[in-house]
Amino acid sequence: MQTNRARASGGVRVRLTGVRRVFPVLDDAGRAPGDGAPGVIAIDGIDLDIAPGAFVALLGPSGCGKSTLLRLVAGLDRADAGAAVVEAEEAPGGAGGARAPLAYVFQDAHLLPWRSVLENAALPLELAGAPLDERRAAARAALVQVGLADAGARYPAELSGGMRMRVSLARALVTRPRLLLLDEPFAALDELTRSRLDDELRALWAELGMTVLFVTHSITEAAYLAERAVVLSPRPARVVADRTLSLPDRRTAALRTEPAFAREVRALQEALESGGA
Ligand SMILES: Nc1ncnc2c1ncn2[C@@H]1O[C@H](COP(=O)(O)OP(=O)(O)OP(=O)(O)O)[C@@H](O)[C@H]1O
Ligand SMILES: [Mg+2]
Repeated sequence: MQTNRARASGGVRVRLTGVRRVFPVLDDAGRAPGDGAPGVIAIDGIDLDIAPGAFVALLGPSGCGKSTLLRLVAGLDRADAGAAVVEAEEAPGGAGGARAPLAYVFQDAHLLPWRSVLENAALPLELAGAPLDERRAAARAALVQVGLADAGARYPAELSGGMRMRVSLARALVTRPRLLLLDEPFAALDELTRSRLDDELRALWAELGMTVLFVTHSITEAAYLAERAVVLSPRPARVVADRTLSLPDRRTAALRTEPAFAREVRALQEALESGGA
């Protein structure tokens, strides 16, 4: 079997240096106070170096700053100090075709209800101005990747929560991103659907080799999915543990009952507790 390092070429490096984010406390009229006023420190001095093609879980208590961190990496928000940089690296031999630097998957699927599944999955390519044939072919391929080959003509209201999330994943994959950012994507799903999607995401990562940054509250989900888990403290978010997981590349349901898995889960639990969660 290929090792993770051998198939890492599809991803990009992400480097965070001294990242700090402070939100202003708005007054009753919704105005931001002047310079020097105290604010809510969401993130305080985070350094992280994420290798191309890595699968990293970001774990932390509610409200600690996980989404803020992901938004900074995505360029949807700006750090007050330090930098979050997504470094593009050319894949050896050229991966062929244009590839988006990153895609973002939210907790809610955020599908457009008046568009079919195929049209939802094709949306990023439509916004990028790709020709109709090309975006339809790419959306069909992305739907196959998430196990929805036959659902292209259906509408979001006709889908289960798990299927909607699959469409959301397909919409993210359609641009063949080199960095996939996921913010608690499966948190609202039932346990069985969630573990199925965990398996599918892990398989997609193994196949496509993009860098994955996966935010979750769930220690077991982090241990099951990731190669490396970064544990954040309660707000302001700081790194309290950064752990390379000693688990096999191949993850199956049986792993969840093995002592090695229990050891990793315990270590992450202890790190969360030591951080004050
Ligand atoms: N745009 C904003 N303006 C003001 N405060 C904000 C803003 N975005 C986030 N915050 C604050 O920053 C802190 C971190 O929020 P964030 O959403 O990053 O946490 P989180 O770890 O993702 O939480 P959860 O696990 O509940 O999703 C919170 O105190 C939140 O209220
Ligand atoms: Mg969040």
